[in-house]
Amino acid sequence: LRAKASALPRPVRVGSAIASTPLVDDAAYRTIAGREFDALTPENDMKPEFVQPSRGVFAFAEGDMLVDFARANGMAVHAHTLVWFEALPTWMRSAPDKKTVMLDHIKAVAGHFAGRVAEWDVVNEPMNEDNSDGLEHNLWYQAMGVAYIPQAFRAARAADPAATLYLNEYGVEQSGPRWDALYKLVKQLKADGVPIDGVGMQNHEYEKGDRTPPETFRKHVQALAALGLKVRVSEMDVVSGGDTTMQAKEFAGKLAVCRDEPNCTTFGMWGFTDRYGSTADIGQYPLAVGDALPWDQNLKPKKAYSAMLAEL
Ligand code: XIL
Repeated sequence: LRAKASALPRPVRVGSAIASTPLVDDAAYRTIAGREFDALTPENDMKPEFVQPSRGVFAFAEGDMLVDFARANGMAVHAHTLVWFEALPTWMRSAPDKKTVMLDHIKAVAGHFAGRVAEWDVVNEPMNEDNSDGLEHNLWYQAMGVAYIPQAFRAARAADPAATLYLNEYGVEQSGPRWDALYKLVKQLKADGVPIDGVGMQNHEYEKGDRTPPETFRKHVQALAALGLKVRVSEMDVVSGGDTTMQAKEFAGKLAVCRDEPNCTTFGMWGFTDRYGSTADIGQYPLAVGDALPWDQNLKPKKAYSAMLAEL
């Protein structure tokens, strides 16, 4: 994938979430990761609960290891994520001074990786279309209101001026109130001069209803281009129930949009093999364990792999 995508007239990066444990333990996983992808997103190792387990105590070993692997294999690191309402250490949830906590976290973590990662997901999953303002009323919002978002981006820019800064969201590939709210938010951020460079559209397809027509996705990519924003497909996976033909069509259709739209920088999947990853974690999606990714549990490429190659 990587060889073909980087040889396109306008090269596109092909990315995957990578987990540190199989990267160390499983040589076959490591080989495919280094060969097929030129963008790496740490699946969990840079989330707040892992990097700042206690206040002011940082744990960067796994994140550093992933950065070193990426560098050794010519991959860009898309770091994930600074501000989210999940994957938080308990102390952070109960801290009374949320604004200080958020800004200190960004400064320390983005500062630690500055110069070694290409991009950051600064704010992850801020939208909730069920609220009248379209925003998730998470702990950061409760402490600061919508202002937590611009403040997070400004802090990230200050801590790592060279990094490309993203807001990352799910379900915004589809039309409807969630997309409308996202568009309104990022338009306002741009109008206010907030240092946001792009939007990650996760593209998880967990259920049939998540299978967005590529043309809807394309319209959204173009709408963001008109605002001067880059886009990345950040976390694609397609729960298939064994329908590998459908799965191949979904992956290839979205990849083709990213290939064609000048502001789409990266086509990224949320892991690459059914052997590991979020949809293989029993308990999370128990009805569809481990069938969402382009390589099977034996690390053999599925139809999705050849379908994507054919688009490049
Ligand atoms: C998931 C990981 O894949 C799992 O291993 C973990 O248990 C929970 O988080 N949206 C995101 C990702 O932005 O960080 C999530 O990753 C999947 C949904």
